[in-house]
Amino acid sequence: MEKEITLDYANTISDFVGTEHGIQASDIQALYPQLSSINNIIKEKKAAGQMGFMDLPYQSAVAKNIGKFALKQKGLFDDFVVIGIGGSALGNIALQTALNNPFWNILSSEKRKNWPRLFVPDNVDPELIKSLSEIINFNKTVFNIISKSGTTAECLANFFYLKNMLIKKVGITNWQKHIIITTDEKKGYLRELADKEGIVSFVVPANVGGRFSVMSPVGLVSAAFTGLKIEKLLAGCRVMDERCTQDISKNPAAMYAAIQYIMYQKGKRINVMMPYAQSLKDISDWFRQLWAESLGKKTNIKNETVNIGPTPVKALGVTDQHSQVQLYIEGPYDKIITFLSVENYRAKVVIPSSKEKHYLEKHTLNELIKSEEIATRVALTKQNRPNCTINLPEISEYTIGQLIYMLELSTAYIGSLFEIDAFDQPGVELGKVLTYGLMGRSGFEKEKEEIEEFLEKSKNSQYVV
Ligand code: PA5
Repeated sequence: MEKEITLDYANTISDFVGTEHGIQASDIQALYPQLSSINNIIKEKKAAGQMGFMDLPYQSAVAKNIGKFALKQKGLFDDFVVIGIGGSALGNIALQTALNNPFWNILSSEKRKNWPRLFVPDNVDPELIKSLSEIINFNKTVFNIISKSGTTAECLANFFYLKNMLIKKVGITNWQKHIIITTDEKKGYLRELADKEGIVSFVVPANVGGRFSVMSPVGLVSAAFTGLKIEKLLAGCRVMDERCTQDISKNPAAMYAAIQYIMYQKGKRINVMMPYAQSLKDISDWFRQLWAESLGKKTNIKNETVNIGPTPVKALGVTDQHSQVQLYIEGPYDKIITFLSVENYRAKVVIPSSKEKHYLEKHTLNELIKSEEIATRVALTKQNRPNCTINLPEISEYTIGQLIYMLELSTAYIGSLFEIDAFDQPGVELGKVLTYGLMGRSGFEKEKEEIEEFLEKSKNSQYVV
């Protein structure tokens, strides 16, 4: 096993955290038949083209094409701006911060090997977008507009604003060369625009949902433009995919889903992902969306409406030891902690000796972060707080590919265990249509009235102090 990630779930077992909060190995084994049949269903769905994210690791030609394109454009642009939101943004951020220098955007161009700075302003906060427009040089900027649907208000609004400025700076016949469009192959406003203006475009496969799309052009284009080895990311996904075809007890994605599912039934409905690596902070943020949008569902079981959903929380070691760990150790028994642990950091920092003797001297920050991780894990376990650890031998494209794919597949498994559809997101629709109403989109007049009525009622509310 070379550079393969592993899942250690010993500290969820009752031998380690007691019978009240721990699980029995037999509880997990009891799920094997169900997980095996889920695996078979997933296989069938994959063969029928319904599990698009599972095909992405095998689309090497797409990655090669992206890699070639990025190399050809290298040196033309100082800045690369991703305009997208949700699944069209979070994977870009996660890959960048996991794999590149944490201060990438303030490195010299030479240190960036001539690759551009990367900005992913995934909000419509006017202060954010205006500030961004003031620091980039439009003449040397390329914008990747990412939206699977091609209609998302946040993405289009930011695009329209920046496009307007771009045209003013580079001219009406040149702006197209500063745009990349990543969207559906056939439909949507952005596809039409790409065709009409001859803008370079990439495809978000129709059978890949936003939050499962990081290994498609959605995540790969910005990764290639910042010098990441995107083929290695896919290789990491592939090795995990192979491991997940083995029997359930050796399938890390199925085992992670199983322990999370059993813990949920035992009232541990909060899953805290806590990496002990600054660079994995945004992986937790990406995972937060994956888990929340996929698993937070209203469903019908035996004619009863059931609201399902483990709450994903992100924390960071060691930083949050001074913020959250008190709660995890003495607060309610409603959590399971998922540590992300790194064996070999990409840097070594020695704490130097000084005149005043200190126990820290000659030790390394590597030892300190590892000791704090171990200490937190042991402290939690001793307090019967279930936790598991995903071990990464190192942080590289290969291990991050494995981690991302394992978490995606786990989401599919646990969704099936919960008997929900992990791939839709009907709950976000209501907010979207009400916004359309407020923004005066035609066809949404009823929603406008509805929301105005609501606002009127709350205006006269006595519950404002
Ligand atoms: O996971 C999802 O499906 C969502 O988070 C979408 O990625 C998000 O709403 C953006 O959608 P789109 O890519 O269509 O603009």
